[in-house]
Amino acid sequence: MVIEKNVSLQPFNTFGIDAKAKLYCNITDINSLEDILKKHNTQPIFTLGGGSNMLLTQDIEALVLHINLKGISIFSETEDAVIIKAMAGENWHNFVVWCLKHNYGGIENLSLIPGNVGTAPIQNIGAYGVELKDVFVSCEAINIKTQKVKTFTKDQCKFGYRESVFKQQLKGNYIITSVNFKLTKVHHQLHLNYGAIKQQLNTFNIAKPTIEDISKAVIAIRQSKLPDPKKIGNSGSFFKNPVISIEQFQKLSQNFPEIPSYKVSDKAVKVPAGWLIEKAGFKGKRFNDYGVHNKQALVLVNYGNANGKDIFTLAILIKETIKRLFKIDIETEVNII
Ligand code: EPU
Repeated sequence: MVIEKNVSLQPFNTFGIDAKAKLYCNITDINSLEDILKKHNTQPIFTLGGGSNMLLTQDIEALVLHINLKGISIFSETEDAVIIKAMAGENWHNFVVWCLKHNYGGIENLSLIPGNVGTAPIQNIGAYGVELKDVFVSCEAINIKTQKVKTFTKDQCKFGYRESVFKQQLKGNYIITSVNFKLTKVHHQLHLNYGAIKQQLNTFNIAKPTIEDISKAVIAIRQSKLPDPKKIGNSGSFFKNPVISIEQFQKLSQNFPEIPSYKVSDKAVKVPAGWLIEKAGFKGKRFNDYGVHNKQALVLVNYGNANGKDIFTLAILIKETIKRLFKIDIETEVNII
């Protein structure tokens, strides 16, 4: 395995930020990963997957390990279900397409999410009524310090809304090398509750959708709202949707009766940050080479050569404005490096 010096990470992060790695190594097999971790055990390590959930605000003074482990295989199967093992470096959407081709159901609602299989559990990716945890069985990960391999069960991953143990207590401790998923072979459970999916299927004139149809509907919705990172740099939702108390929500709805919300419990509701940001006047705003997407205010974009610090400054301005106008704290979903 070759370790290169001073490598630009621009091609490897979907925001397209030109930050540099002090040291960089492309990892394509597990044995070399173990070797490198052993040999460089005094060196700070930075794990890079699909680069789709990070904003680089500075160069990385570490050894960047770019996880490109490939392979999809059937781990076990019954008549109804299949357990598939996918290696961490598989592109997430290519994996969804592979599953659809084999008529394996469960992740069609997660079509077109940028990033890789190995980083999907870290933030428990989710969209259109489905989260990774709904199909997750286990993942294998290697401890960066000890090189011991551990299998994490679903419980051990402590999944939450865009959260897991890998973002919290175990942050920076493990590199996920593969993930096992349980998918259906027959009697697929379709998740059609999300209004936009129903509307899209109506537009397609489809009354009895297959998993392939749902995937097509999700792709159409995402393409209509979310910028393609190959054309405009971005990391999807930049902020999480905040959860507020019912009391606070009732007060807010007196001033803003049209405010959307989703019930979380008897005491709390989730409010779309995209709505708050739009209401605060940021939607479609452009500052030099960066700004807020004009079709979905939750997405910050790099139109060309913006640097991460500028985008981060905009994120802080948005956060402070939302706090001032609505008394709500919004948290970033994207990892700020
Ligand atoms: N809205 C606005 N203005 C905007 C954007 C949204 O008013 O600019 C309103 C919409 O009208 C709607 C509500 O906010 O009433 C929700 O919007 P949307 O359905 O687009 O979903 P979201 O809550 O903004 C979340 C996820 C997305 C995921 C979609 C669909 C988070 C942080 N984001 O967005 O995930 O695709 O739901 O399930 O939970 C991602 O994580 O990168 C991501 C794109």
